[in-house]
Amino acid sequence: MAKEIAVTDMTVDQAREALARLSALLGQANRDYHGADAPTISDAEYDRLKRRNAAIEARFPELKRTDSPTEQVGAAPSEGFGKIAHKVAMLSLGNAFEDQDVADFDERIRKYLGLSSEPLAFTAEPKIDGLSLSIRYENGEMVYAATRGDGSTGEDVTANARTIADIPQSIVNAPAVLEVRGEVYMSHDAFEALNTRIAAENEQLEAAGKKPKTVFANPRNAAAGSLRQLDAQVTRERPLKFFAYAWGELSESLADTQMGAILRLQNFGFVINELTKVCDSPEALIAHYKVIEERRVSLGYDIDGVVYKVNDLALQERLGFRSTTPRWAIAHKFPAELAWTRLEAIDIQVGRTGALSPVARLAPVTVGGVVVSNATLHNEDYIAGRDSKGATIREGKDIREGDWVQVYRAGDVIPKVADVDLAKRQDDAVSYQFPELCPVCGSPAVREEGDAVRHCTGGMICAAQAVEKLKHFVARKALDIEGLGTKQIEMFYDDPDLPIRTPADIFTLAERDGANLTKLANRKGWKDKSVANLFAAIEDKREIAFARLLFGLGIRHVGETAAKDLALHFLTWETLATAAETARTAALAWRAADLAEEHERLVAQAEGRRAKVKESRDLAMASHKVSVEAQAAWDDLTGIDGIGAAVGLSLTDAFANERERSEIDRLVDMLTVVSPDAPTQDSPVAGKTVVFTGSLEKMTRAEAKARAESLGAKVSGSVSKKTDLLVAGPGAGSKEKKAADLGIETIDEDGWLTLIEGL
Ligand code: IVH
Repeated sequence: MAKEIAVTDMTVDQAREALARLSALLGQANRDYHGADAPTISDAEYDRLKRRNAAIEARFPELKRTDSPTEQVGAAPSEGFGKIAHKVAMLSLGNAFEDQDVADFDERIRKYLGLSSEPLAFTAEPKIDGLSLSIRYENGEMVYAATRGDGSTGEDVTANARTIADIPQSIVNAPAVLEVRGEVYMSHDAFEALNTRIAAENEQLEAAGKKPKTVFANPRNAAAGSLRQLDAQVTRERPLKFFAYAWGELSESLADTQMGAILRLQNFGFVINELTKVCDSPEALIAHYKVIEERRVSLGYDIDGVVYKVNDLALQERLGFRSTTPRWAIAHKFPAELAWTRLEAIDIQVGRTGALSPVARLAPVTVGGVVVSNATLHNEDYIAGRDSKGATIREGKDIREGDWVQVYRAGDVIPKVADVDLAKRQDDAVSYQFPELCPVCGSPAVREEGDAVRHCTGGMICAAQAVEKLKHFVARKALDIEGLGTKQIEMFYDDPDLPIRTPADIFTLAERDGANLTKLANRKGWKDKSVANLFAAIEDKREIAFARLLFGLGIRHVGETAAKDLALHFLTWETLATAAETARTAALAWRAADLAEEHERLVAQAEGRRAKVKESRDLAMASHKVSVEAQAAWDDLTGIDGIGAAVGLSLTDAFANERERSEIDRLVDMLTVVSPDAPTQDSPVAGKTVVFTGSLEKMTRAEAKARAESLGAKVSGSVSKKTDLLVAGPGAGSKEKKAADLGIETIDEDGWLTLIEGL
């Protein structure tokens, strides 16, 4: 090799030449390292070349190449991706499967907006089967690109996004802040080529006794695997494409309509899907769906349905969002794909709440391009050929081990067993006996009245429940502890020296590791760095949002939305705990009354008389001593919009169960629980309890409620001492009178609109 010139002595031409050579050299080294798993230069030499490249760039910044090695993410796989919080959440879409669902979608929107026969236009466009990406531009320059992640925080894949030709690096005449969203995907051709290349590389790897790489199951996995590459050079070699179809934060609006906005994105240099069309009725949507369905096989990339969006952006704004999906859009999925195969066995899985779920183990079969070897069987009724109401399904055919079954899958949903071929059933096949004992801990598994699912009664003594609860606790939407996933939880659960049996054990892990001198770092599979990372990730979650913690506890019926609602209502953990305790006797009385009612109904039915439901309820209630405070706490709890008796009961149960409670307390003592943000400060209705009554003329009740909530108000259905404001339209009755009696401020619809004007 020619002698290297010192950077300080270089002429401009020598520098340019050196940068070109270094770029080629480092690029090749990267490819050898990652692509073929066969490094050609030492790590030290690699680092030295990179430093030399950076030094030349520092001295001659104007010579920096567009493919400069300094811009490429280094080869440090353990570092992972940075996180980016989305300024505007990235949501998913509700689904439609049949034409009727599309008509319902139109109907729902009309109802919400109070439209009757006015025209209502939509866009219809292919639903691309890839992964969504949000790209942020400031003053026309790309600043970052992030994956969807959990919808609120994604991974920083900026360097990789820069390698995608369909994504402009800079834009002219763009708003100062512009976030463009769309789908990254891989064409069928590129997918085939990639898998062929991997197969060829694998021959060499195998010949060299090395571990082969996995070929991708479908273009979507290939696109995801390629975009989520720590080395952007690898991404560059895998031609990804991008369709723009939405946006996030904007400093100014793009247009008045969805179609107009998409065309602006096209003007900025983005690729938009040419099958995007404005349709003015549900019938026109379905007609375009059929056109797209026909074109599907010849598109050259995977799509799994058609997305419909309300065209008028002002209406989109009014419609807003449910917790995870917009009201103004829906995905009309293509029919599921089917295949026949043999059901080899039925296994029972025990979930976090103790639910026993039957799983079909299948002889592997390809369904719509994906190999399927497991499918859900839902519950024992489904296996027996009945639905949850006792009606026959599959013409009453039951499912047995050894049967030939039809498997279907739609999109990313878990494959299901749809049908059985009785002609192929073995003579000695016996009907499936659903276990009445938990297959993991042996406790009785019982089916409660009206419940389709059998539950293990073992609680925390059941290892399956305990492990599943822990997995739920660390999951993305709960505590989200990096490096502590399904695999690690399973490992730690059975660990003789450093067991994690309950959530609280997670937060004592580091301490126990030191004290017991079990030193995780000395174990196989662990390094100082990975242990330090794990402990840091745990420490990081000692301060945790109220709703995440509550959701993470995995209390039955307390899902993400309920947890958020409860956190917003109670604001502090102590208030929630006190409320749950105080409401206990009222909860028991409620349950007793409910059981008594059910019992009375059944007896009356058998005796052929009319049920005296109220009497039975009252009797059962009276047998419980419920204080005024307990009743008030219960009413307050179950009066929260979206929180019913089911949540109320399991919440009060959890806080009353000695064992569960002491675990919760032990955990909470080690944490700092962060209260939810106070509702929008600059709103005059923030934190107020509002009741709507009578008929509203300028908006529907649903819209009024959603809008009030988005401004931080609590919307309640009934007037009580806690009500701050009553909005009464024409025809308001008893509620208006009650409000007047209680001295509660009452305004009409116009008064309400003036109050929230401009917000
Ligand atoms: S619109 C607020 N349009 O589907 C809604 N999504 O199931 C924003 N997707 O996460 C999404 N093609 O990754 C939209 N033409 C399209 C799409 C599309 C594919 C994906 C997207 C989203 C998922 C929702």
